[in-house]
Amino acid sequence: MVFPANPFKPTAGVMPPVLIGRESISADFSEGLDDGPGAPDRLMLITGPRGSGNTVMLTELGLIAKKRHWIVIDETASAGLCDRLIARIAPQAGRVADATLKPAFMGLSLGELTFTPAMRPSTLRDAIAARLNSLGKGKGLLVTIDETQDASLEDMTAIATAAQHMLRENAEVAFVFAGLPSLTSDLLNAKVLTFLRRASIKELGDVSLVDVRLALARTIRHAGVSIDDPALDAATKATGGYPYMIQLAGYHMWRQARRRTEGPADTITIDDVRSGVEQARARLGEGVCAPVVKRLSDRSVDYLRAMAQDDGPSVTSEVAKRMHESMDYANIYRQRLLDEHIIAAVSRGKVDFAIPFLREYLRSMGE
Ligand SMILES: Nc1ncnc2c1ncn2[C@@H]1O[C@H](COP(=O)(O)OP(=O)(O)OP(=O)(O)O)[C@@H](O)[C@H]1O
Ligand SMILES: [Mg+2]
Repeated sequence: MVFPANPFKPTAGVMPPVLIGRESISADFSEGLDDGPGAPDRLMLITGPRGSGNTVMLTELGLIAKKRHWIVIDETASAGLCDRLIARIAPQAGRVADATLKPAFMGLSLGELTFTPAMRPSTLRDAIAARLNSLGKGKGLLVTIDETQDASLEDMTAIATAAQHMLRENAEVAFVFAGLPSLTSDLLNAKVLTFLRRASIKELGDVSLVDVRLALARTIRHAGVSIDDPALDAATKATGGYPYMIQLAGYHMWRQARRRTEGPADTITIDDVRSGVEQARARLGEGVCAPVVKRLSDRSVDYLRAMAQDDGPSVTSEVAKRMHESMDYANIYRQRLLDEHIIAAVSRGKVDFAIPFLREYLRSMGE
């Protein structure tokens, strides 16, 4: 038999073979659409650290909406977000001249479609209204925004204002925002924050190892490859329930088994798991941890490396000692790292890593 194609998808934004542990979010969203305007889950905020599945969750919710014949507009926050949304939501240039849109578009050349900040909320509203008008009964419009933490205050204010109006008018709309956990504590403008706080907030944490094990077993065995229980247990444990690591570990152990020329064929052995996990960890370091560490100042990295000497939460006074600095000095870096959600205060005087596998990465840097 030819070893089957690798089912694991260790690529940002790519749907995994099994979307593990997110059933309740999908169910809440489905209900929100079915319950009609006013349902709380039509305004959702998804937060999770990198690699926890923010983007694929948006894709999944988009699929749910499409099944109900809704229009789905996916955008990623970056400069020009609101203008892009308007351009994509408003029907094509020909229909842009629609009566509802005219006032907002006056004095603009249609080619460039940029709006003064003051005009954006009403222009976005008009665009959504026009699009909804063109849809059949029962159909609606879902807008998803990824990487919301990167949105400018101006764009977020415009989108929040428009969304609030459409929701209040009982329009067939839904908005889902996804971003890093820092989003909810960021010093965004109070108005925007109030709007997002009122959303149904879903935090994407690690998924349960019981679910990971079931999904791994299903994915592997359904493809016609065997794996025994000890190998499955080892693979499950190595993922730590972190979604990106699940795909990475799955992918590399599969590849290891496929390339191996000796030993049992069509089987992922415990040795395949071990070397697959090792390769997965290396990839995780390059892909997730390295970009985080690269942005930090040398002293911030020193703080993290002092923490990495511990196997669990670190005592802050001990970290300062290891840095050969005063508590006051070390606290500056502790605060910066807390603000960036790289570490978290777990109890009085103790901090721990907030990014999966960062500890292991920092340790390997020193080798
Ligand atoms: N619930 C899940 N079960 C299994 N695998 C998942 C799950 N969610 C995401 N993944 C996998 O994890 C990886 C990361 O997913 P995704 O790109 O959606 O994360 P993200 O939070 O958007 O990360 P980033 O911040 O890098 O954009 C992908 O390989 C994806 O297939
Ligand atoms: Mg993403």
